[in-house]
Amino acid sequence: MSITTHAVGRQGLTTSVEGLGTMGMTAMYGTRDDAGSVDTIHRAIELGVTLFDTADMYGPFTGEQLLGRAVASHRDRVVLATKFGGLTLDEEGKVVGGPNGRPDYVRSAVEGSLRRLNTDRIDLYYQHRVDPNVPVAETFGALGELVTEGKVGYLGISEASAETIRAAHAAAPLSAVQTEYSLFTRTVETNGVLQTARELGIGFVAYAPLGRGFLTGRLRSLDELPENDWRRTAPRFNEDNFAHNLALADRVRALAEKSGVTPGQLALAWVLAQGVTAIPGTKRRAYVEENVAAATLTVDADTLAALEEAIPAGEVAGERYYTQGMQAIQE
Ligand SMILES: NC(=O)c1ccc[n+]([C@@H]2O[C@H](COP(=O)([O-])OP(=O)(O)OC[C@H]3O[C@@H](n4cnc5c(N)ncnc54)[C@H](OP(=O)(O)O)[C@@H]3O)[C@@H](O)[C@H]2O)c1
Repeated sequence: MSITTHAVGRQGLTTSVEGLGTMGMTAMYGTRDDAGSVDTIHRAIELGVTLFDTADMYGPFTGEQLLGRAVASHRDRVVLATKFGGLTLDEEGKVVGGPNGRPDYVRSAVEGSLRRLNTDRIDLYYQHRVDPNVPVAETFGALGELVTEGKVGYLGISEASAETIRAAHAAAPLSAVQTEYSLFTRTVETNGVLQTARELGIGFVAYAPLGRGFLTGRLRSLDELPENDWRRTAPRFNEDNFAHNLALADRVRALAEKSGVTPGQLALAWVLAQGVTAIPGTKRRAYVEENVAAATLTVDADTLAALEEAIPAGEVAGERYYTQGMQAIQE
């Protein structure tokens, strides 16, 4: 069965219900395997995935370069989504500051992303983190101009509060809100973000739907992660919390066995059952095949309820990021 597509927001954007997150291909999650990553992107396209997610700060820059290269011969079949302003980057990709939503920065950031993605139009362009020093209406005023000029197709915002989403949407219509959402991270259900996106007709894109790998049950110990893997320093993976969170993730396994699927597939199916778009990340062909198959599963209401009972909201130990990362998100 082929993966279905759906409208993301009400501005005209359509994507596959499951996209492919490409962050781990060049950043955060251990060693690079560019040939394997390109093969994974091509396999995703073959399987009907149309949404590909990256950001200027992945690498920095190398994530966009790799994705641009991989989709060059399939450009018409993909929705390229990238992000700016999570950190301030100079021309060489050096981090020179925190979140940046200044209109002049938006204008220079988009030119760099267009170049690296090897395209004349970014299909979906997100503000990666809200800049506390720049009114979001100013940032989205500049972004609206990019849409008018045709450099950008649709707009999104990541890790923004309900109030910020409203203000941004009033300045230039949003198609997508991207925030972490999984059985491990359910904050958007109670802080007004999901509700506001639904009310305003904005699509919701769930990032890290596999709990950064935890929910697949395959990662059994921190020692399995490469030395340079970001998760070694992430609160949920540290020594105090790892065993507790792994035990929670393992509760999905029994339910998955009963349904004849893998734990990761069931975790993804739960996210998709919430009526959102999910962008699981992987650099491996076998994993993308497994994850795409999850998008064609029908999971009954009893199993969905059992999953929520197995991992009650808020029971995961540890914050999503350490202090600086938490300060940059609006919850
Ligand atoms: N907006 C934001 O601030 C933000 C933040 C983080 C991420 N994102 C986006 O969201 C995407 C997804 O999030 P994520 O990659 O952080 O987390 P995720 O999708 O929850 O998990 C990714 C991890 O799970 C592993 N994995 C994937 N499929 C698997 C399978 N079937 N079996 C076993 N392991 C599997 C991957 O392994 P391998 O690495 O070995 O393939 C990777 O280590 C990112 O790629 C990025 O595009 C956005």
